[in-house]
Amino acid sequence: MKVLGIETSCDECSASVVESRNDTVHVRSLSTFSQIEIHQPYGGVVPEIASRNHLETINHRIEAALAEANVTLKEIDAIAVTNRPGLVGALLVGVSAAKALSYAYQKPLIAVHHLEGHLCSIFLDQEKIPQKYPILGAVISGGHTNLYVLKSRPDQWSVDFLKHSLVARSRDDAAGEAFDKTAKLMGFPYPGGVWIDRNSEGGDPAKYAFPRALNQKEVFDFSFSGLKTAVSLIVEDLRKKEQLQKETSHLCASVQAAIVDQLVSKIKNAAEYFGCQSVAIVGGVAANRALKAKLNEKLKIPFFSPDLKYCTDNGAMIAAAGLFRFRQNHQLNFEQSLTLNAIAYPES
Ligand code: KG4
Ligand code: ZN
Repeated sequence: MKVLGIETSCDECSASVVESRNDTVHVRSLSTFSQIEIHQPYGGVVPEIASRNHLETINHRIEAALAEANVTLKEIDAIAVTNRPGLVGALLVGVSAAKALSYAYQKPLIAVHHLEGHLCSIFLDQEKIPQKYPILGAVISGGHTNLYVLKSRPDQWSVDFLKHSLVARSRDDAAGEAFDKTAKLMGFPYPGGVWIDRNSEGGDPAKYAFPRALNQKEVFDFSFSGLKTAVSLIVEDLRKKEQLQKETSHLCASVQAAIVDQLVSKIKNAAEYFGCQSVAIVGGVAANRALKAKLNEKLKIPFFSPDLKYCTDNGAMIAAAGLFRFRQNHQLNFEQSLTLNAIAYPES
C-alpha cells in the first residue's frame, strides 16, 4: 500500500510517498522545502508569507516526491494531508492541493492531525515497529510540548486517541518556543534552538540558576514562560556591563539546562507513573544533544528518536499517519473530501 502525504501547517512545505511492508513503514521519497531563511529577517514565521511560499512550491514538492518514489498518482492508494492544527492559510494550501488530486484521480483522502503525524514519525523506516507498549510519546516542537501514552500499535489507534492518550502539555510556551524566544533575547537568528545547542558547548550549565517551574513530582505539565523573564533580566544586565559576548556559552548552557531538566524530569516521572516500557521523542527539539544525553543518563527504560529529517515537520510522518488510518478505513467519504477544511486549533 502506497500513500502520498502532504504537510504545509507552518513553514515547511513537504510531500512524501510511504509504503507499508508488513509491519514497517518504508519512506520511498521525501521532498521538503524549508522557509526558515525566508522568515529569518522577521525573527519568526510570517503567516501570509508562509502561505504564499507554500503556494509557489507545493506542486513541485508533490511532483518531486512522486518522481523520487518512481510512482505515478494512479499507483497511489490514498492521499493524506495535515488539516489541523497550524497556520490556517498555510494549511489551506496543502488541503486544497490534496482535495484537488483526490477528486481528479478518484483517490481516498485522509485528514491528518499534525500531532498524530509527529507521533507516527516514530514508526518511519524502523526495521521493526516497537512492540513493547505503552510507549511514552513526547512531541517536543516549536508549537507543542505534549506527552502521550501510546497503549497500542498505531493501526489500532481510535479516531479520538489523541484526546484520550494526552497526559501532559505545556501550560504556556512550548519548549521550542522557549529556546527560540530566549535565543532571540541573546541576539541569535530564528529559529534559535540550534544556536543555543551549538553555543552551549564548553559553557557551564550551572553558572546561571534559571527557574525550573512546576517541579512537583505528580505534575506532568510543563511551563516555560517564566524562563524568558529571568533570561531577559540577565541579558540586559550583561549587555550593560558589556559582558554578553564573553558569557554567551555559559548563558546558552544554563538556558538549555533549565529547559532540558524540566523536559527530562517530567518525561521520566510520567513514564514511571504510567508504566511505560519505552520513551520516544519527536519534533524539532528532539535534535537537541543535551536532551538526548540527559535522557540516556536518567531513563531506566529504552528511549529512541527518529532520524532528524523525520523529527522536524515533514510529509512522511503525515503519509504514515494516513496509512495507519486508511488500514482502519478512516478515509473521508466523497462529500467529506469535497468539504474538508483547514482548522487552526488542535481540538474540536
Ligand atoms: O517540529 P518543528 O520542526 O516545527 C514545529 O512543528 O514547531 O520544531 C521546530 C523547533 C524550533 O523551536 C527549533 O528551535 C527547535 O525545534 N530546534 C531545536 C534544535 N533544533 C531545532 N531546539 C533545541 N536544540 C536543537 N538542536
Ligand atoms: Zn510540527
